Amino acid sequence: MEKQKNQNRNHYTKIISITSGKGGVGKTNIVCNLAYCFASMGKRVMIMDADLSLGNVSVILGIIPKYNISQVIYGNKQLKDIIISDSNGILVLPASSGVPELSNLSESQKIALMSRFDEFTGDIDGSGEPIDILLIDTGAGISSNVLYFNLAASEIYIVVTPEPTSITDAYALIKVLNVKYGEKYFRVIVNNVRSEKEAKEVYKHLSLVSDKFLKVTLNYLGYVLNDENIPRSVIMQKPALSLFPDSKASECIKKLAYSILSQKDNKISNGNIQFFLNKLLRAF
Ligand SMILES: Nc1ncnc2c1ncn2[C@@H]1O[C@H](COP(=O)(O)OP(=O)(O)OP(=O)(O)O)[C@@H](O)[C@H]1O
Ligand SMILES: [Mg+2]
Repeated sequence: MEKQKNQNRNHYTKIISITSGKGGVGKTNIVCNLAYCFASMGKRVMIMDADLSLGNVSVILGIIPKYNISQVIYGNKQLKDIIISDSNGILVLPASSGVPELSNLSESQKIALMSRFDEFTGDIDGSGEPIDILLIDTGAGISSNVLYFNLAASEIYIVVTPEPTSITDAYALIKVLNVKYGEKYFRVIVNNVRSEKEAKEVYKHLSLVSDKFLKVTLNYLGYVLNDENIPRSVIMQKPALSLFPDSKASECIKKLAYSILSQKDNKISNGNIQFFLNKLLRAF
């Protein structure tokens, strides 16, 4: 058992946040579809629903969590008790309504939570399989919840759409993470575009302002085309990639997944989930 625990601690987990300045730009759909894609490649994937009060990963995956993070904070549950698996083997750490901003936790609640985090090896079902990829679906905006989840992640992916407000809000998020917290590396995913050309224009726009006013490196990761199969899949509560694997958006998601796998961790973090969780909690 101890040996197993040590093996999992040494396993490298890719810890990535999918975030945005403006709400409703497609983060949760991108996260759920990427998770489905990674799972079908044989990777062990976990989604952390970090939109703590308005999370809707479970809705999109069609699962009903019995417990959520509030039972870990206030109750006697461990992380492994609240994590659930969907029918495709995607693990989900659910959010809940009624969870306060983590910054409102008392010191003793933080200490209790840290010890819960420390018990978590990533081997939630006793299979001995550690997690390969942790996808964090953050809320939108620049609240401390959004900022700290991004800072604790090893790679940050900003989702942006062609809407001017989405671009200015993405810039505002990049700016605060850079100026206030020294974050330098960001990847950009452009969603809801009519063509690859439009996606590149949106990226260019965002990188022009960022290069002019900030000391950041912005990498273009890819795009997802506007596709009515995405809202259709939301209604059917299954990832679009599983229902419409050959649709325009699904093709884009597959390419995105490969690009993400080829990305290196710029923060040279150790890819360890306990380390991430403790770093997150210390920030609040
Ligand atoms: N590529 C796309 N083509 C068409 N519709 C899309 C696309 N991506 C997302 N949508 C639609 O946009 C809406 C918002 O998507 P989603 O909930 O994933 O955004 P979000 O960024 O997670 O929102 P929030 O900030 O509220 O968490 C949904 O109705 C979804 O169906
Ligand atoms: Mg969302």
